[in-house]
Amino acid sequence: MSVIVFANPKGGAGKTTCALVLATQLSESGATVTVVDADPERWISAWGNLPGKPNNITIVNDVTEDSVMDRIETATRESQFVIVDCEGTASLMVANAVGMADLVLVPTQGSSMDARGAAKTIRLIANQARLARRDIPHCVVLCRTSAAVASRSLRNVHDQLEQAGIWVLKTGLVERAAYRDLFAFGGTLAGLDPEQVSNVDRAVQNAREFAGEVIITLKEIAS
Ligand SMILES: Nc1ncnc2c1ncn2[C@@H]1O[C@H](COP(=O)(O)OP(=O)(O)OP(=O)(O)O)[C@@H](O)[C@H]1O
Ligand SMILES: [Mg+2]
Repeated sequence: MSVIVFANPKGGAGKTTCALVLATQLSESGATVTVVDADPERWISAWGNLPGKPNNITIVNDVTEDSVMDRIETATRESQFVIVDCEGTASLMVANAVGMADLVLVPTQGSSMDARGAAKTIRLIANQARLARRDIPHCVVLCRTSAAVASRSLRNVHDQLEQAGIWVLKTGLVERAAYRDLFAFGGTLAGLDPEQVSNVDRAVQNAREFAGEVIITLKEIAS
């Protein structure tokens, strides 16, 4: 059982997209997954109402700042992976979810505005870790990166984060139409129609590498 929390108070950083991509990849590998949908827009719940949701993904969305810890705890008894999609603010709900995490992933786009959002999340994680008197492992996931070029601002953000001692996952989530279309068509990436959605195979490959690195990271943390 692992609790993975996606947090960044910067709106639109990529939390919901990364959370759903990870959930569907883990489910494809046969794992049971509960998504705690704490994003007020409830995108993942809406995806769950479309056809094609794998049976091994459960979505819980009746969460408040008071109930989020209970919801996460219950989910850990029912699924191998619990993924929490947080709202895009620094709230008590986010702090409570972070306090329950085995790993906090901080999706960040390649701009300094986003890097500032990431820095705020990391301060919040550090405070929760002090309260809980334990380490809360966390890393940044670079999102919406260009498939073609590594831009200078992205490299800057990467370097700034690493210089600040922040762990950055090697695999970022590339900008792909398939990740957006997943929310429109439902199901999994592999189930998207390549006639309708461009570069599905590349999105699947990127999503596999991303999920693979998350699993390796969880194993490293556990050992
Ligand atoms: N890798 C990607 N490829 C293509 N589009 C993406 C990608 N990541 C995010 N997006 C798009 O960027 C927008 C914001 O992403 P998302 O909703 O995942 O961010 P968020 O951090 O959950 O936002 P909020 O703080 O509002 O909850 C959405 O329109 C989404 O479709
Ligand atoms: Mg969201």
